[in-house]
Amino acid sequence: MGVGRPARLAVGVVSAGRVGSVVGAAWAAAGHHLVAASGVSRASVRRAAALLPDVPLLPPDEVVTGADLALLAVPDDVLAGVVKGLAAAGCFRPGQIVVHTSGAHGVGVLAPAAEHGVLPLALHPVMTFTGRTEDVARLAAGSVGVTAAEGDEAAWSVGEALVVEMGAEPVRIPEQVRPLYHAALAHGANHLVTLVRDCVDTLERAGIRPAERLVAPLLSAALDNALRHGDRALTGPVARGDVGTVRAHLRELGAVDPDLAETYRRLAGRTARRAAAAGLLADHAVRDVLAILEETP
Ligand SMILES: NC(=O)c1ccc[n+]([C@@H]2O[C@H](COP(=O)([O-])OP(=O)(O)OC[C@H]3O[C@@H](n4cnc5c(N)ncnc54)[C@H](OP(=O)(O)O)[C@@H]3O)[C@@H](O)[C@H]2O)c1
Repeated sequence: MGVGRPARLAVGVVSAGRVGSVVGAAWAAAGHHLVAASGVSRASVRRAAALLPDVPLLPPDEVVTGADLALLAVPDDVLAGVVKGLAAAGCFRPGQIVVHTSGAHGVGVLAPAAEHGVLPLALHPVMTFTGRTEDVARLAAGSVGVTAAEGDEAAWSVGEALVVEMGAEPVRIPEQVRPLYHAALAHGANHLVTLVRDCVDTLERAGIRPAERLVAPLLSAALDNALRHGDRALTGPVARGDVGTVRAHLRELGAVDPDLAETYRRLAGRTARRAAAAGLLADHAVRDVLAILEETP
């Protein structure tokens, strides 16, 4: 497949976390040979047994030393230290491919490995994983953000080929935009969860159950419409300029949870400005909505 790559690589996985075990399983399914994985906690050992059966569990330095393709799927905050430690221990060698899966980092964090002649790649699956077997299919249904060294076209091609082997779609993310790319994804995926849970909790506080069943079709349709139609998908009191309703919402939410009311106020302001930019709300209506939002709670 790739540029100057053998068809079947010896893959080492550090470690059998939620992502490492799933990406490892995907590459095994593509025909690569999983030579070893690391994992100490009960959760990682259990995931390895389920997703990487018969793959020996070894310390990280031995996993990397024996690999043509070393996958470093460790928490963002320990990645730099793990790379430095492995480099200091002499685990990297020229010709190895070293991949990490962090969205927050580009290939810069792999510099201590690159100094030993490895091909560094950042392959970030744009998906949320729990480390279960169904995640392998989820990985294949989505995209992976690929970053390789600037100007090294062969390295970018190897990264893209490795993503295609996962069954996923590669998307090139230049090193310098990686932090903003990751911030945008976290804002969407993580804060969506907070919004949904705030919605569900507030309904349950009002005695309305099962709240999840009530809101699932509404929220699914809103997400689908936003992705298909952009800001023009917006409905509701802000988009209509119904300032009396917005004021009542702030009063009700403020009575049960002032912090939630503050979040609503901020998001409603942003919603009003987006609605105006999309031509949904006239200037005077935007001013009215923003004036209500600026009222002292
Ligand atoms: N989960 C997601 O949805 C997702 C999606 C895309 C990208 N990512 C990225 O993928 C990376 C891994 O995330 P994850 O969710 O898979 O994390 P995770 O489930 O917490 O797994 C982390 C793994 O790293 C191991 N580990 C922790 N500290 C280590 C160290 N100092 N040396 C060697 N191994 C160590 C853990 O082993 P033990 O359990 O034995 O301690 C565990 O197997 C992160 O960069 C994350 O941002 C995650």
